[in-house]
Amino acid sequence: MMTNVTREFVEGLPKVELHVHVEACISADTIEKLADELNVPMIRPKSELFQYKSLAEFLSIYEWWVDLLRSSEIAEQIAYSAARQLHADGIAYAEIFTGPRYWANLDDHPQIEALCRGFARAHEDGFADCYLIPSISREQSPEWAMDLVDWMVAVDRVVGLGLDGNEEVLGRTSEKFVEVFERAADLGLGRSAHCGESSGPGSVRDGLEFLRLDRVDHGVRAIEDPELVARLAEEKVPLTICPTSNVIIGLHKSISDGPIDAMYKAGVPVTVNSDDPISMNVSINDEFVKLSEAFNWTTDDVLRIQDHAIDAAYCASEKKADLRQRQRKFAILAGL
Ligand code: ADE
Ligand code: ZN
Repeated sequence: MMTNVTREFVEGLPKVELHVHVEACISADTIEKLADELNVPMIRPKSELFQYKSLAEFLSIYEWWVDLLRSSEIAEQIAYSAARQLHADGIAYAEIFTGPRYWANLDDHPQIEALCRGFARAHEDGFADCYLIPSISREQSPEWAMDLVDWMVAVDRVVGLGLDGNEEVLGRTSEKFVEVFERAADLGLGRSAHCGESSGPGSVRDGLEFLRLDRVDHGVRAIEDPELVARLAEEKVPLTICPTSNVIIGLHKSISDGPIDAMYKAGVPVTVNSDDPISMNVSINDEFVKLSEAFNWTTDDVLRIQDHAIDAAYCASEKKADLRQRQRKFAILAGL
């Protein structure tokens, strides 16, 4: 049977996305302009800026361009334009990561406040309703992270704490952040971490054990451990999977080689996300269309997977009910 999912359906559905990095929502033109203004030579020609073959290569280029973001005004503008661009892709609600470790030329507090201001202003202007998840980089200190958590919990539009970085290089470091994630839990913040991407299933187990995660970012390498897949299904742990991003960094040859469908069929609440929209040229719409073709997903599958995202979102139940109602209304108008 062929999929009944059309691009029109996917684009029109008011969607929820839970795994996007704000620093990856900046165009090569903007990066070149910022570099010009600062008299910083381009690290590569603009046409090759967004070409990478590994996570390490991606993160090293990422580090270079985030270094160019040196004022609150620029941070606010980047957040605003990310929300506008997500809105153009039909995203109604998004939770977006920022990695303060990469912003070498702007202090964390003004950076986080400015990003949240940009999101608030974009929402007032009718664009996607976006919230921020500041994300610790695994090489940072738990003391620094603890101070950040205590401060950021009071910032409007901060909803969770993340953890990312390259575990292939840094090793399994979750244990170091036990107290930080405990504090985040006590303060009512959501908790998610990049695990089981550059590292194997053990890292996903660490995340559940040490960090009290309520979502796992990527988590795809859990597929190497059937008992872990069964646990994720049993405990209903949502995964924020980013299929094209995983292909780009060399985890799988193609989307159809990835484990998302197998995990879904095993009962794991998977979600579909873009990770790095502009810097990996991915949109959630393309992801749903490609996945539906690869795995013969139906519109019911798309709606069910979006329902996982609404369940896993770090927002109040009234907002979840509203998002569900908007999706249902769209589905009825689409004749479903
Ligand atoms: N930071 C930004 N994108 C990332 C990814 N895909 N994996 C780990 N750390 C990241
Ligand atoms: Zn990510």
